Amino acid sequence: MSRTVYVNGVYMPEEEAKVSIFDRGFLFADGVYEVTSVLGGKLVDFHGHARRLERSLGELDMPAPVTVEELLDIHRELIVRNEVTEGMIYLQITRGAPADRDFVFPDPEATPPTLVLFTQSKALIESPAAEKGLSVISIDDIRWGRRDIKTVQLLYPSMCKMMAKKAGADDAWMVEDGFVTEGTSNNAYIVKGGKIITRSLGTEILHGITRAAVLKFAREAQMEVEERPFTLEEAKQADEAFITSASTFVMPVVSVDGVSLGDGTPGPVARRLRELYIDESVKAAI
Ligand code: PDD
Repeated sequence: MSRTVYVNGVYMPEEEAKVSIFDRGFLFADGVYEVTSVLGGKLVDFHGHARRLERSLGELDMPAPVTVEELLDIHRELIVRNEVTEGMIYLQITRGAPADRDFVFPDPEATPPTLVLFTQSKALIESPAAEKGLSVISIDDIRWGRRDIKTVQLLYPSMCKMMAKKAGADDAWMVEDGFVTEGTSNNAYIVKGGKIITRSLGTEILHGITRAAVLKFAREAQMEVEERPFTLEEAKQADEAFITSASTFVMPVVSVDGVSLGDGTPGPVARRLRELYIDESVKAAI
């Protein structure tokens, strides 16, 4: 079925959606994005994503093309028009399409940003991967130094996924100076002696919206949380591990570089957090 997508103020069939070849997203990866999940036809943590989007735009000195309220309306309109009950909404803003290729940013008055949104229907709650758990391999993190900005420069994470696939694994965890930064498109966690350990926030990782929610729910459930960098060696010796993102929620990890964690099946902490996160998100979705 052809989707209805949104491009710069217009809803249209996906086949008709077009962006200029001079768009800076296309030429320079000069753009930011958000992925917001949809459960029961409603948005999960919309305002968290909107706040992070504002921050990404601010860090790159890029104007916001619409207000947060307008953005919410567009998300909701796309859910209705595409009859999405479960899945994701992808949003991208670029610095627009000036008349030519130029490293210098265009004047925002003359070149408005490009705003694109589309839906992806997908079962998120019922997940065979969540039952089985993921295998991850470690790969050097050679990305740029501002990973806290959610830019569309995703070539390296994409290459990492391919390296994982080639190695027969599901995903990769990136490692810098011996410490795990994050997954290719998710935040990384280990559990040791009942304690949940995940890297503290900084410019080295994306400040996951799912991460913030999961840590809040964990603390409310009296689970112990430690925000600090952990090494790859610690990960291999962990009792269990998991990842979080808007598209996977809480997803158990059962092996790191071929080393099985615990009994090699999804651990109790990851299972409980997945349940908690889904229950709370369904309740709070707007
Ligand atoms: N990825 N770290 C990275 C590098 C990410 O790309 C993502 C999200 C996360 C988790 O953030 P959040 O919980 O806000 O989704 C962490 C999205 C889902 C993607 O690129 O598709």
